Amino acid sequence: MHYDARMKFHVLTFGCQMNAADSGWLGRSLEGLGWEQVPAGEAQVYVVNTCSVRDKPEQKVYSLLGRLSEHLERDPSIFCAVGGCVAQQVGTKLWNRFPFVRLVFGTDGVSQAPAALARLAREPKLRLSLLDFTEDYLERDPALPGKAASPTAFVNIMQGCDNFCAYCIVPHVRGRQKSRASAAVLQECFALAGSGVREVTLLGQNVNSYGLDAGGDGVLFPQLLRAVAAIPGIERIRFTTSHPKDLAEEVIEAFGDLPNLCPSLHLPVQSGSDAVLRRMGRKYTVDQYLKKVEGLRRARPDISLSTDFIVGFPGETEADFKATLDLMRQVRFEGSFSFLYSDRPGVASVKMEPKVPDEIKSWRLAELQALQNAQQEAMLESLAGTTAKVLVEGPGFRRGSEEPAWRGRDEAGRVVNFAGPAEPDLTGRIVSVRITQAKKHSLWGEGAS
Ligand code: SAH
Ligand code: SF4
Ligand code: F3S
Repeated sequence: MHYDARMKFHVLTFGCQMNAADSGWLGRSLEGLGWEQVPAGEAQVYVVNTCSVRDKPEQKVYSLLGRLSEHLERDPSIFCAVGGCVAQQVGTKLWNRFPFVRLVFGTDGVSQAPAALARLAREPKLRLSLLDFTEDYLERDPALPGKAASPTAFVNIMQGCDNFCAYCIVPHVRGRQKSRASAAVLQECFALAGSGVREVTLLGQNVNSYGLDAGGDGVLFPQLLRAVAAIPGIERIRFTTSHPKDLAEEVIEAFGDLPNLCPSLHLPVQSGSDAVLRRMGRKYTVDQYLKKVEGLRRARPDISLSTDFIVGFPGETEADFKATLDLMRQVRFEGSFSFLYSDRPGVASVKMEPKVPDEIKSWRLAELQALQNAQQEAMLESLAGTTAKVLVEGPGFRRGSEEPAWRGRDEAGRVVNFAGPAEPDLTGRIVSVRITQAKKHSLWGEGAS
């Protein structure tokens, strides 16, 4: 391969929104160096951003790297960079198994990855690793394009997590909590609003404890939320993820009095059993969780709640699982992600017994998901006949229809596709849509104005 300045690269991303945001930044930064993003089959450099939260996504990384190494037949100088949580966890051992991996970068190494990649392109014999944790939040040049590619954007407000829930590898691979300076967050949000972004999602593993680490600058999450909501042009604001124990009264109240704070919240509960929650180290009871839900519904009766569940945590009994089903019914979550418990290296629950057999875990998961689907379908159906305010993200579609359509999200974050003329381009506009039909996981409507 001829190493010219304009390398062709392709980014593949696993995991959570923080990884998605990091990958977006990496792509923009490499383009800033003059590199070109291309489809997978044409790349000279692959960047794989990985997730280690369960065994399955970790295994997916290895099979992907196996498949990518087949591209070496097309061009033996093709190389790969592996970043994110599996890179942090496994480190330079990845080199032994996959020699075409020439860069491993951990979660705090992202900011230096573009420069490292540029160096690797110039020096074909070199290998580099960026695996150190930093003490403070490393500010990056946001590398924002003049005009936003999408009317919605994610803004990182922190790195890492200090909670050490018994099952979770995140604090081990993302490091201690480090808050980003509030002025930098606000500056990025101003710049995004100026480039055409209408909706901002503040991101972190535990946004409600923003500012509470040593790197904090005195601004806590409720103040930050209000400051971002006050930026002209930011018509919608969301945040994720929230640990129930840290969701402050002031934030609950903000749902009642900040008109641009969207009426939806992802509030991972993990289990409906106090005994399981205690062993998970979650530091709240089902009762305390329900009190927060009550407060949220009082502040914003139309709030749409979603959650995460872990099914089959060590020692979970049939009665514990029934309590989780009961909680699902009681809260009427509109959406949930439920996962089979997975042992992760170095976490506390690895040593907890008895492990729930795989078969039982799978039955429980299927039952929980069936209940969730039925609940979500009923909730979406109840919206037929209402009018939604939809922020249009781009062209949409309806199966079996040639009619032009648009796609966006309502205030609660539900996907809405609606019929409407192809011109003018509605992307970035907030449009009133009459909901005519509920689909399995989305809504269909007609543009009203
Ligand atoms: N910071 C977020 C979530 C981080 S990980 C929070 O605190 O809620 C995303 C989800 O993965 C978790 O909410 C949990 O449901 C799930 N998860 C984490 N570790 C897991 C494990 N070892 N096995 C199965 N699911 C896990
Ligand atoms: Fe993991 Fe718990 Fe931190 Fe969430 S709060 S990232 S589940 S340790
Ligand atoms: Fe996965 Fe790392 Fe996010 S483990 S869920 S990519 S923080």
